[in-house]
Amino acid sequence: MPTSAPNTPDAPDARDVHACLLPPPARGWPRLQARLVDRIKRAALRRLHASQAGEVLLLRMYLIGEASTEQALQDEWTSQDSPAWLSRQAARHLEEERGHVRMFADAIAQRGGSTHTGEPDWLSRRKIARWKRLALRHAPHFSQGVLVPAYAIGLCAEQMGVRVLRRHCDTIGADHPLHPLLAGVLDDESRHVRLCMHTLTRIVATPELPRLEALLREIRGIERGFGISGSIGMYLAGWLCAWRSRPAADAMRTPERDPHR
Ligand SMILES: [Fe+2]
Ligand SMILES: [Fe+2]
Repeated sequence: MPTSAPNTPDAPDARDVHACLLPPPARGWPRLQARLVDRIKRAALRRLHASQAGEVLLLRMYLIGEASTEQALQDEWTSQDSPAWLSRQAARHLEEERGHVRMFADAIAQRGGSTHTGEPDWLSRRKIARWKRLALRHAPHFSQGVLVPAYAIGLCAEQMGVRVLRRHCDTIGADHPLHPLLAGVLDDESRHVRLCMHTLTRIVATPELPRLEALLREIRGIERGFGISGSIGMYLAGWLCAWRSRPAADAMRTPERDPHR
């Protein structure tokens, strides 16, 4: 496996590489789908924040996501043949993801929730399994092997993280107690997007760019396919948390209604 940057000698137009790494502007049904997912998720966020259990559930979703990224960084984002610069960069990235895991775990503990991560939910497990099959299928077509699909999947996951955190910060507003935590992580994830983009421009050789484009299209297609089901699942979870916390709210209201108690 080559250890130098394969893209350096006859690098293509940097703007072309950049364009394929950025999420393409959605048109037609995918655009409508993205808007629908955004609206459902904003409604789900408001509902989940309405109860302590819902807020803990949201933080646990972040915790599990961050723990999965940490695991992927350890297992797939470096190999023994990785260039030294990439190993150093992955080590720093891993430290930052561990920091996110600690911050979300602290926020959960402050709210009395469990910080045991366990397994990702069923939908996320299916998505991860499809990504892994995709990585194995594409890896032989790149001189840097599985590192390229690993960073392509990582890029899309970080881009999704930025979208999710931006929507969340926007929905709760700057005065919400969780805003500083989410905005801080958003800054880090935005930097990780740039890091993954920079890495891909260095490890993908020019003749491999059409294959990278096809790979990114497939990754984003899988992500989109899970968008609506994921947002509906989130909305239902918010509804369930609000419903479960209702007896406690009713109990708190009872003394006001009954002057003899
Ligand atoms: Fe993170
Ligand atoms: Fe990240």
